[in-house]
Amino acid sequence: MRSQTFAVAGIAFGMVLMFGCGGEESATTDQQLHRMMAAAGVAPIDPGPMPTAAKIALGQALMFDKILSGNRDISCATCHHPWMHTGDNLSVSIGTGGQGLGPMRQRGNGRPFIPRNAPDVFNRGVPEWRTMFWDLRVSGTAPGGFVTPAGDQLPVGLDNVLAAQAMFPVTSQDEMRGKPGDHDVFDQPNEIALLDATDFTGIWSALMQRLLALPEYVTLFTAAYPDVPTAALGFQHAANAIAAFEIGAFTYLDTPWDRYVAGDMSALSNEAKRGAMLFFGEAGCATCHSGALFTDQKAHDIGVPQVGPGKGTSAPQDFGRQLISGNNADLYTFRTPSLRNVTLTGPWMHDGAFTTLRAAVVHVLDPSTSLRHYDVRQLTPDLQSTFQGSETVINAILANLDTDVATPRQLSNSEIDALLSFLESLADPAAADLSGTLPSAVPSGLPVFD
Ligand code: HEC
Ligand code: HEC
Repeated sequence: MRSQTFAVAGIAFGMVLMFGCGGEESATTDQQLHRMMAAAGVAPIDPGPMPTAAKIALGQALMFDKILSGNRDISCATCHHPWMHTGDNLSVSIGTGGQGLGPMRQRGNGRPFIPRNAPDVFNRGVPEWRTMFWDLRVSGTAPGGFVTPAGDQLPVGLDNVLAAQAMFPVTSQDEMRGKPGDHDVFDQPNEIALLDATDFTGIWSALMQRLLALPEYVTLFTAAYPDVPTAALGFQHAANAIAAFEIGAFTYLDTPWDRYVAGDMSALSNEAKRGAMLFFGEAGCATCHSGALFTDQKAHDIGVPQVGPGKGTSAPQDFGRQLISGNNADLYTFRTPSLRNVTLTGPWMHDGAFTTLRAAVVHVLDPSTSLRHYDVRQLTPDLQSTFQGSETVINAILANLDTDVATPRQLSNSEIDALLSFLESLADPAAADLSGTLPSAVPSGLPVFD
């Protein structure tokens, strides 16, 4: 229930109905919320610069073109699809060798699940972003100050942390590159899978060779980078263009919340305002979900059930940030997600352990109880047995639980409804249908719609 047509006096009237209290008291709802927002440093969001149309056009082709995968069978968009609100609607993703899109996607023979949930890519060009991935393994700001798994091999000239991120999915064996011995969809040997996993430079230049062998890509690159000779083009130019497309297509900041912050007192329903007061107050959410993106971009252990294949040396568990830092204080910690458009981007958490937003919120209010009573039936059948529910694992997760969520918060059902209503106000209605961002075809001629 929105009150957008009400004037400020009308809002006061709405409050009277809601709380059955006097107009004077209702006027204080906005005042009280504004005081909490001021204390939390809430400020209008800076959307950042809009890239050129030529760069966005190149990026759109690259984002949807399966030519970037070793086996030519998966594109970025397979896992970050407009139909699935820039995610894949799966708890954990399915990489090369798989078939189908979204919840219908199936793993290929003998292929693993990807360890983690595919985050949305909404609003990732906002300058406030300085980290990427659940374990923050890509971070920094332009120009040049990026920390990534590629170390010294990372080329200079990346536009932003989003572009730095785009260098990496193509290097991952299970996501896009494929494994040695793989053949592509035309039954040709996959030359990219044969390269050493640490040979980032080799992988990036092999992909550029594929792209620049197609005249249509040469044209698109030349239009996007008129000052760069073709011989000087590198995968950083592709990555900058992909980031440009993500920014051009998936920046959605016209939310009821942003209108409220800009001064439109009627942009939020009374219930959403009550939720906001809980969020910034009693429920303690804004400690971690801070700033205009609703994330502190730090890693915390909030007791999320471990599901999926696990990651790296910690498999079948996923130690999160600890795998990057080597520091045991980081065990089971994952980066606080942005809550913008969160109603659109389930399943939720780093491994999609919760398939309703309400369950995710109820979890955060009392992680220990939620973890101990986790219901695997919300997962697809093939993931249920991957839940790491032993006493040992559960105790280890809870041993590192962040103190800011350690004390259970008793909220009534209607207070939880209010929190959910607030979270709904962080979604831009225009982001609900992104089908206009799909290209009709890509330069390689590979299929776009499956
Ligand atoms: C197989 C599915 C898959 C493919 C293909 C894929 N991604 Fe992802 N993406 C993921 C998963 C899973 C994560 C989270 C991994 C992690 O944090 O360890 C992720 C993370 C990201 C992030 C980080 C978001 C954030 O807030 O941290 C961005 C941006 C992104 N992908 C863009 C891309 C681009 C661009 C491509 C193509 C070059 C791509 N992805 C290909 C599944 C995929
Ligand atoms: C201690 C910091 C912290 C606090 C306090 C906190 N969160 Fe979070 N939140 C996180 C982290 C970290 C994750 C991701 C954890 C993971 O995936 O393992 C998360 C995940 C979420 C998610 C899932 C988002 C997604 O896209 O998957 C929602 C929803 C959420 N939190 C809402 C809330 C609400 C509502 C509150 C207040 C009741 C709250 N959080 C309090 C750190 C926090």
